[in-house]
Amino acid sequence: AEVTGVQTCALPICSLSLRAAFAAAMLRSRFSRALSTAARRPIVGGNWKCNPASASKLPELIANINACDTSKCDVYVCPTPLHVALCTGKFTNGAQLAPQNANFAGCGAYTGEMAAEQMVDMGIKWCLIGHSERRGEFGLPTPKESNELIADTKLGYLLSKGINVILAIGEPLPVREQGIDKVLEFCVEQLKPAVAHFKAAGADKIVIAYEPVWSIGTGVTASPEQAQETHAALRMWLAANVSPAFADAVRIQYGGSANAKNAPDLSAQPDVDGFLVGGASLKPEFADIVAAIAAAK
Ligand code: 13P
Repeated sequence: AEVTGVQTCALPICSLSLRAAFAAAMLRSRFSRALSTAARRPIVGGNWKCNPASASKLPELIANINACDTSKCDVYVCPTPLHVALCTGKFTNGAQLAPQNANFAGCGAYTGEMAAEQMVDMGIKWCLIGHSERRGEFGLPTPKESNELIADTKLGYLLSKGINVILAIGEPLPVREQGIDKVLEFCVEQLKPAVAHFKAAGADKIVIAYEPVWSIGTGVTASPEQAQETHAALRMWLAANVSPAFADAVRIQYGGSANAKNAPDLSAQPDVDGFLVGGASLKPEFADIVAAIAAAK
């Protein structure tokens, strides 16, 4: 009878007390501490976006990437779709190509799209999806990609073809101005459709790029404290909603006006596992960013 009694009331009590514990942990730490001491190999990506204007500049940009010491840090590069094939086989230090987008339906009558099957054929192992510039930010008059399209349909499609995914997320300024709880709420909506895929794929197939919209291309970087607080909050949510092992192992990059100057302080934050770099990835200082995080971890 005693066991039955426990069983009948244990579930609601348990879930309530778990929720209370979670809330208390959030309040206590304000997400400022690392959740674990797991050793995660750092990873830095260079997102060239729609650059360079001339393919004649590619050798110079590729040289910047090849100047990176990758012995303690993974590196990937996202060239514009037109230039992906021109960069294939050009990296001498193990840097990986990661296209900036993918379709979700494979090859066929999909004008202007890129298929995971084509990536596999070209030996490409990574793909970036969910960049805020594809989520309707910055006033581009293209249809917004929804959280479900990105984190469920596209993510699932890429993983099913054996392509690893960098999933970019991040909040706009009005959300940041409301504080960390609203930031977490906003980012969680971007992550929720991915949960089943995260569980099935495991952490080594996924990188999360946290890129606050207000810091992208603005020269305004998140402070090390803001980056740490947000990364730790995301990791805590992943621990509760995917698994502690996934949260422990998955790499969370910071993106948004990262450069050689601010990389050392950001790298010192325990939950910052790397960077997704825009503007500075077009410059020689990209190698300094890689060196900074490699030295810090
Ligand atoms: P910036 O480094 O130019 O701010 O761009 C960040 C970014 O959007 C990388 O994907």
